[in-house]
Amino acid sequence: MAIAQPATRPANPRFSSGPCAKIPTFKLELLSDAALGRSHRAAVGKDKLKAAIEETRDILGIPADYKIGIVPASDTGAVEMAMWSLLGARKATMVAWESFGAGWVSDVVKQLKIDAEVKEAGYGEIVDMASIDYNTDVVFTWNGTTSGVRVANGDVIPADREGLTICDATSAAFAQDLPWGKLDVTTFSWQKVMGGEAAHGMLILSPRAVERLESYTPAWPLPKIFRMTKGGKLIDGIFTGATINTPSMLAVEDYLVALNWAREIGGLPALMARADANAKVIWDFCGQKDWVANLAVNDENRSNTSVCLKFTDDRIQDGAAFAKAVAKRLEKEGVALDIGAYRDAPAGLRIWCGATVETADVEALMPWLEWAFEAEIEAQA
Ligand SMILES: Cc1ncc(COP(=O)(O)O)c(C=O)c1O
Repeated sequence: MAIAQPATRPANPRFSSGPCAKIPTFKLELLSDAALGRSHRAAVGKDKLKAAIEETRDILGIPADYKIGIVPASDTGAVEMAMWSLLGARKATMVAWESFGAGWVSDVVKQLKIDAEVKEAGYGEIVDMASIDYNTDVVFTWNGTTSGVRVANGDVIPADREGLTICDATSAAFAQDLPWGKLDVTTFSWQKVMGGEAAHGMLILSPRAVERLESYTPAWPLPKIFRMTKGGKLIDGIFTGATINTPSMLAVEDYLVALNWAREIGGLPALMARADANAKVIWDFCGQKDWVANLAVNDENRSNTSVCLKFTDDRIQDGAAFAKAVAKRLEKEGVALDIGAYRDAPAGLRIWCGATVETADVEALMPWLEWAFEAEIEAQA
């Protein structure tokens, strides 16, 4: 029998996995110091871009000898830039367990036509990261946003590897501990855990990645938007705030505001703790109910940002239609926006739990989830 509507609604129903909820204190006036209508090459613009780089370094604990660049085309731009500039010097291993990782595999195998070993796992599973030959260049996604499965830690990546590790960490950065010594290229975008605006990608290079850039020229042409070297030398300006092309100073300001919030609440440990607390609410809820489960098979690989759920009740007749109807019902009530599973993922829900989401809102959502589930079971009958 359908149950009564819960009394409490999440104060903020935004649980989208990107663009993600803005910081809890967000209001447009916070952006009033943006360098609008000014050149990004003027001191005021450049200083802000540089501050965005150095604040990122500080909060994420990125080593001083790593380069951090703000690049075009969001996370995709940063990953593509890295793959097209660095791969081809040695054999590659392409690793994927969900849609975005699969996209990188396809680019490398079908577009760049690089000699690559492909290692894939299905939704909910993960590739055994210990089975990889790290003397090849390895491309992988730290947190699979569309399956809710993440790498638990980087312990199996050898410090003395010969290949480069290229890691798409867009839904992990600022919520999960990234072992910088094990990562040669790391990418993310602003609209995920920090609730920033989609615009630019962050590209983080280890000294070994820089060495590769300066010693290897790919056999294929590179568009200007991807070029990080000139005359065999790294274009250092890209990593000090002189972007390749024009950035959005409004998006930059918004990112600076988010970084400032992160610092005020206690930096990376606080951001990670918020994501952990949010995800735990859902994990505990799944533990108490026999009709919903985490898509991630192993607990140690469960994402604390993109929590993906599947319905497991055998009364459900059409899994995809059922999950869509639940998401639609919650959206219609204004209690959860954008929580349908990713289009290529198995039927279910995906609830973003990154640092900008308030734990009280996730808590308030759980009874609604049960309400919508029961209502759809009844509607089916
Ligand atoms: C793991 C992963 N990689 C890449 C992307 C694409 O990011 P962007 O749209 O910032 O380029 C996403 C977006 O959700 C993602 O989750």
